[in-house]
Amino acid sequence: MEERIKKNIEEIKDFSTNSHEELEAFRIKYLGKKGLLTSYFIDFKSLDNDKKKDVGQLLNQLKLSAQSKLEELKTKLLSGVSKSKLNDLSRPGDIIQLGSRHPISIVKNRIVEIFSEIGFTISEGPEIEDDWHNFSALNLPEHHPARDMQDTFFVDKDPDFLLRTHTSSVQVRYMENNKPPIRTISPGRVYRNEAISARSHCFFHQIEGLCIDKDVSFADLKQTLEYFTTKLFGKSKIRLRPSYFPFTEPSAEVDVYWGLNNETDYKMTKGTGWLEIMGCGMVDPNVLKNCKIDPNEYSGFAFGLGIDRIALLLHQIDDIRLLSENDIRFLEQFKASY
Ligand code: PHE
Repeated sequence: MEERIKKNIEEIKDFSTNSHEELEAFRIKYLGKKGLLTSYFIDFKSLDNDKKKDVGQLLNQLKLSAQSKLEELKTKLLSGVSKSKLNDLSRPGDIIQLGSRHPISIVKNRIVEIFSEIGFTISEGPEIEDDWHNFSALNLPEHHPARDMQDTFFVDKDPDFLLRTHTSSVQVRYMENNKPPIRTISPGRVYRNEAISARSHCFFHQIEGLCIDKDVSFADLKQTLEYFTTKLFGKSKIRLRPSYFPFTEPSAEVDVYWGLNNETDYKMTKGTGWLEIMGCGMVDPNVLKNCKIDPNEYSGFAFGLGIDRIALLLHQIDDIRLLSENDIRFLEQFKASY
């Protein structure tokens, strides 16, 4: 038995391979459940006591050398640097899996770029907000019925902390900390306590814009929106429908004329040719006052749009839930987009 073990130790010393299969066979032969070591240990039990010491030492040596050889060859195979392969210059390169940007990021980056070109800075703020920045400062005092327009997730009721329902909260923070002239956009994630379906989710992404200066008028707002829709969609015809937001007066909803050139256009615009894309209006004087800006000296406009909705439109995605499922098969399709 001693001779056989010694021979095995020599065999292990000389063993080398570049193949995973051979290495696995090596492991099974020496270290497997029914391998040599197991059978030696069974025989070992019936040895005379005076023999056990020497054979025991040899068996340990065998085990250790098999284990360290296995580790050594495994590392070598994994790093793929076996000399013969390195020298083979015709070997194909390793395939590197390129990631892709998420459609939300693609659209967000594009919108940010468009507004940066006309002097808008980017501002960000916390996702957990207090009542003041999300509601009260925006002309939505406590018990105001318009608070129900945005179903809210509360984090704490006393004092009120909540998951922001829109990024208008960032604009309040910006106005509190900066003097006009102001031109800023605030991209970010927002939350609403709504049932999840193909068309709505309990969180999504917004970009809101704010421009405050002397003599800013509704005409400036409309001009800015026309510039934006031309850049983003290649369509310049828009219409403003009167609407209501507590923080703007007057307020409007913006539709862009998409056209009805094919079946998809019919589907997207529900046969009207028009697509609703955002809300906007002139900042309510009360909001300016709340942020310590004098409404007699300054005026401004604000607008807000959902990035997810625009991503669905631009990429013809028919279920908003796909945007948050992180399914590689879905995300891979955006590799070619920028
Ligand atoms: N904050 C509004 C919303 O989330 C969007 C909006 C922003 C409307 C600015 C008008 C002006 O629905």
